[in-house]
Amino acid sequence: MANQKGGVGKTTTTINLAACLGEKGRSVLMIDADPQGNATSGLGLNKNELENTVYDLFISDKSAEECIVKDVIKNVDVLASNVNLAGAELELIGYEKREFILKEKIEEIKDNYEYIIIDCPPSLNVLTVNAMVAATSVLVPIQCEYYALEGLSQLVHTINLVKQRINPKLNIEGVVFTMYDARTNLSLEVVENVKNNLKQNIYKTIIPRNVKLAEAPSHGLPICSYDPKSSGAESYRLLAEEVINKAELIEVKEIKERKRK
Ligand SMILES: Nc1ncnc2c1ncn2[C@@H]1O[C@H](COP(=O)(O)OP(=O)(O)O)[C@@H](O)[C@H]1O
Ligand SMILES: [Mg+2]
Repeated sequence: MANQKGGVGKTTTTINLAACLGEKGRSVLMIDADPQGNATSGLGLNKNELENTVYDLFISDKSAEECIVKDVIKNVDVLASNVNLAGAELELIGYEKREFILKEKIEEIKDNYEYIIIDCPPSLNVLTVNAMVAATSVLVPIQCEYYALEGLSQLVHTINLVKQRINPKLNIEGVVFTMYDARTNLSLEVVENVKNNLKQNIYKTIIPRNVKLAEAPSHGLPICSYDPKSSGAESYRLLAEEVINKAELIEVKEIKERKRK
């Protein structure tokens, strides 16, 4: 989940997509790669009482297995984070393979999960690059507001650089519109504008502005537990459905291709 803009709904989408995939019986690992640790606390973990975090993963020889918190919510394990991670970037200066740390560390556990979702920080720093090197695709949340497209070309450029130089598998999974306000023309205009200008896959599910989504993290709960009938919960369930359908379609294609060979 990446977009170097802050406040566009990366963390909210990470938490709730992970929870909804878990609710649908999929096994999920959520990795919090943001030193703010909002995805960590949003799933009810206490940021200040974590034993091993993504920071330890980055700067020590601890394994992913040692750092993962199991079954934080139904079917969801977490690699948690807190403010310590803010120091990692400096500590990694001069470390030759620093873009590959996350990829290498999750190698031995990645097959335990059907979905691994990484919440990126609001910048294109070494943590975000680590996420892009470890990932197979990038999901870009876009807030339905006037400056929605600002910075997107830079994000696409970064994704393409990582793809060309380090991770040829990397794709843009798609764009998800967030905080859509049906009462304003602006939201509608933003969606139309992005659709016309951005040649990317766009998810059919649009996440509405819903106060329950903003309240849920302060209770340490994903939306499907905090208010399962809210419009926010409904829409993240639909998004999970779309993600699953897309992933399983790709899987079927790959199996067919393998059989043909
Ligand atoms: N669909 C939504 N409706 C209402 N509030 C939202 C919605 N999505 C996110 N928010 C709120 O907006 C703020 C920024 O969202 P967040 O997911 O933290 O963005 P990011 O991780 O990109 O910085 C948070 O306070 C969050 O609770
Ligand atoms: Mg965030």
